[in-house]
Amino acid sequence: MPSMPADHRPRVLSGAQPTADSYHLGNYFGAFKQWVALQDDFEAFYFIPDLHAITVDYDPGLLRERTYIAAAQLLAAGVDPERSALFAQSHVPEHAQLAWVLSGITGFGEAGRMTQFKDKSAKGGSDSASVGLFTYPILMAADILIYQADRVPVGEDQRQHVELTRNLAQRFNHRFGETFTVPEAHIVKATAKIYDLQDPTSKMSGSAASHAGVVDLTDTRKQAAKKIRSAMTDSGSEVHFDVVDKPGISNLLSIYSALTDRPIAEIEKEFAGQQYGHFKVALGDLVADFVGAFGDRTRELLDDRAELDRVLARGADKAREVASVTLDLVYDRSGFVRPAAR
Ligand code: TYM
Repeated sequence: MPSMPADHRPRVLSGAQPTADSYHLGNYFGAFKQWVALQDDFEAFYFIPDLHAITVDYDPGLLRERTYIAAAQLLAAGVDPERSALFAQSHVPEHAQLAWVLSGITGFGEAGRMTQFKDKSAKGGSDSASVGLFTYPILMAADILIYQADRVPVGEDQRQHVELTRNLAQRFNHRFGETFTVPEAHIVKATAKIYDLQDPTSKMSGSAASHAGVVDLTDTRKQAAKKIRSAMTDSGSEVHFDVVDKPGISNLLSIYSALTDRPIAEIEKEFAGQQYGHFKVALGDLVADFVGAFGDRTRELLDDRAELDRVLARGADKAREVASVTLDLVYDRSGFVRPAAR
């Protein structure tokens, strides 16, 4: 019988879907900034969930291109392929294999309670929602559990999926014997939900109908500054953090604070007595510099597709070393006869 995985450094895992032409500022602050910070102390696995991306209508050529853009942007964000495994989900077949096993212990009602599925399927009507969209959180659980991950850095919108993952891990361990590490979500409250600049009560999202309120990491300096300067702000004029009465200005303060690593109170003080306009121009310049430099790095990386292919292949090799051990253990615990050595 295969043994439990050997001792290892604590593991961190996360992924971000290649379903838009670019990641956005919400992805960066909600997730990528944490991914980069955690690679110091954790054995890190970061991946591009291309299998998840096909659960909604999509174009294969575009998916391929977006996967490269995603890889380049994750490297530009600071994911270091020397320390972290960076890979495409479809390169590691164990994700889908484990998802099938987990689907046998997931309740139909349990999966139906996932709010992201309910929101997404409500948008297009239940007939247009695919079965893949419904089982999506089970694949996500497999993504996490196949690496015995301890921590999962995500934004607030993924909390429920990590909770389901924990439940499935505990259920499997209970029924079949200790097998999975039960992971914890790693959610940084201050940036767990960055809001749309034009609708500061909805989250910033790559699938938004208009990108006027979404700062894409491929925006030019000019586009980014303009989006910030035109952000919807609230009545009143004081630059003050108050999510209920001033959701617009509070969102901008969160972005300013995340970008400069300065506390919000200090920024409020700096802009005390000044109008929203001054603050927005200052933040617009900061965001423009950030996005501009990010775009330059991304374009350079995208110019060398062969190198991106090599990075992803190396990442997949590292990932499979770990994933294959877990899958072997799971298959054994599940009662599958293991192939005899020849
Ligand atoms: P996805 O691709 O929608 O988003 C990638 C990451 O960005 C975070 N995020 C945000 N954070 C703050 N403010 C926002 N406006 C914002 N928008 C997005 C998300 O919370 C996420 O952390 N199901 C996942 C992808 C996935 C995954 C996984 C994640 C597949 N398998 C395993 C972790 C572990 C998703 O759709 O995220």
